[in-house]
Amino acid sequence: MFVLAHLSDPHLGPLPAGRLAELSGKRALGYLNWHRSRRERHRPEVLAALVQDLQGAGADHIVVTGDLVNLALRAEFGPARQWLCGLGSPHDVTVIPGNHDAYMRDAIAHSADYWGDYMRGDSAAEPATSRFPFVRHRGPLTLVGLSTAVPTGPLLATGRLGSGQLQRLGSILTRLGENGRYRVVLIHHPPTSPRRQHFKRLIDDAALRGVLAEHGAELVLHGHSHVHSLVWLEGPRGRIPVVGVPSASASPQADVDPAAYNLYRITREADGWRCEAIRRGLFTGATGVLELGRQELAQ
Ligand SMILES: [Fe+2]
Ligand SMILES: [Fe+2]
Repeated sequence: MFVLAHLSDPHLGPLPAGRLAELSGKRALGYLNWHRSRRERHRPEVLAALVQDLQGAGADHIVVTGDLVNLALRAEFGPARQWLCGLGSPHDVTVIPGNHDAYMRDAIAHSADYWGDYMRGDSAAEPATSRFPFVRHRGPLTLVGLSTAVPTGPLLATGRLGSGQLQRLGSILTRLGENGRYRVVLIHHPPTSPRRQHFKRLIDDAALRGVLAEHGAELVLHGHSHVHSLVWLEGPRGRIPVVGVPSASASPQADVDPAAYNLYRITREADGWRCEAIRRGLFTGATGVLELGRQELAQ
């Protein structure tokens, strides 16, 4: 059995004091927003409690699906790397970026500069220009890391994969499927968004669903929406579970789901794969991290 842990959107605080020149446009709004409400929503003590529980959960590998920082100021990336190092080594932890990690054009390279060894494939020969999708083999699992992190204008939190990444994803999934791997696709934005989330959706979500329908995957994990979610997509050989988790630092007092992470206990059986999903997190009114539920993800 292989145990995979998934947490997302830690939105690490506190926010460093930005230089005035750095706090223009979208960042100025984000800076105000952080001090007005977000710093109460994303609590370091909540994240610490969640991570402490996760460290004792016996996970073989941890994935973090983006939004580690808030405004993508360069000064946020070093502390985020320190947090990652506390979570585990680059071999045991896989990271993909979220929209907050590429908040503005000047920040595009920061995540690769600071967290590059957490978000790269097993092959050292991968050129930096096509970092995504990257591929990591861990036990019977293969993790396929995507990036939807693109800078956007004020009030937008959309993401985009682009045709090159989608094309490469299709061939990677086919090859891995032929080799009998348990394919886990990691993406920050969910592959389906409700209409009310138009301004924070994945722009090429239909194209992604097309790739998954044609080439298949065993599990898709995402962040961004900050809530528990499970959606099933059609694949070529059965259904594909698509699972989202709340922000790993979400205060139980906030108006969205309190902080949680998911564990996946994955076993190869004679007639295919067995995957049990276990939710652990905070519960409004309770203290400490608890099991919130478990579910068999039958394909
Ligand atoms: Fe987020
Ligand atoms: Fe996000």
